[in-house]
Amino acid sequence: MQVLGISGSMREDGNTARLVRAVLDEMERNGFETEFVSLAGLRIGPCTGCELCLKEHFCSIQDDWDAIAEKMLEAKVVILGAPTYYFDVNGQTKNFIDRTYSLYHHRRLAGHGGVAVAVQANTGGERAVQTIEGFLSTHEFVSLGSVVGNGYRAGDVERDQSAMEAARSIGRRCAAFLGDRRG
Ligand SMILES: Cc1cc2nc3c(=O)[nH]c(=O)nc-3n(C[C@H](O)[C@H](O)[C@H](O)COP(=O)(O)O)c2cc1C
Repeated sequence: MQVLGISGSMREDGNTARLVRAVLDEMERNGFETEFVSLAGLRIGPCTGCELCLKEHFCSIQDDWDAIAEKMLEAKVVILGAPTYYFDVNGQTKNFIDRTYSLYHHRRLAGHGGVAVAVQANTGGERAVQTIEGFLSTHEFVSLGSVVGNGYRAGDVERDQSAMEAARSIGRRCAAFLGDRRG
């Protein structure tokens, strides 16, 4: 799998999922294999700051984070999306991000392409995107863009035509990024 889209929302088919999938759909149209995963319902506990990952090179906490992390390591492009909660990413997404500390020490994600996606009802999405971009830049991803969509109830974001088009445009940029690497 070349491209992994992750929605950190607890709404499995909510606005974040739809905007992330708009990027993936465009990549599929360009001939790339993609996978979508939702963090809804998964057990992803907080980083405990144990620092064991300095020695182990992977997180020692046993829960559902591991399987998604393995997929992320395999993917050449990662699209991470979150709903905006109190002007930032929601807790599930933040737990997911914090646990990637275990992949940071040896820069295991460096050079992968990365995209930040957030959905807001009306405000705070830019800050949520900044949090995701902070995660991407810390890990030395190659930034391939970001988009903030607007929507409140699940599905609303599909009426935000400019965000949906921005997502498709990012999908084309990701395809070009992978195409260049394919040579
Ligand atoms: C606990 C909570 C906090 C929220 N905080 C904000 C906020 O700060 N700004 C905003 O515009 N929308 C806020 N929202 C609305 C969500 O961002 C919005 O409904 C979004 O579309 C949810 O995306 P999802 O369908 O992917 O879960 C909040 C919603 C919840 C449940």
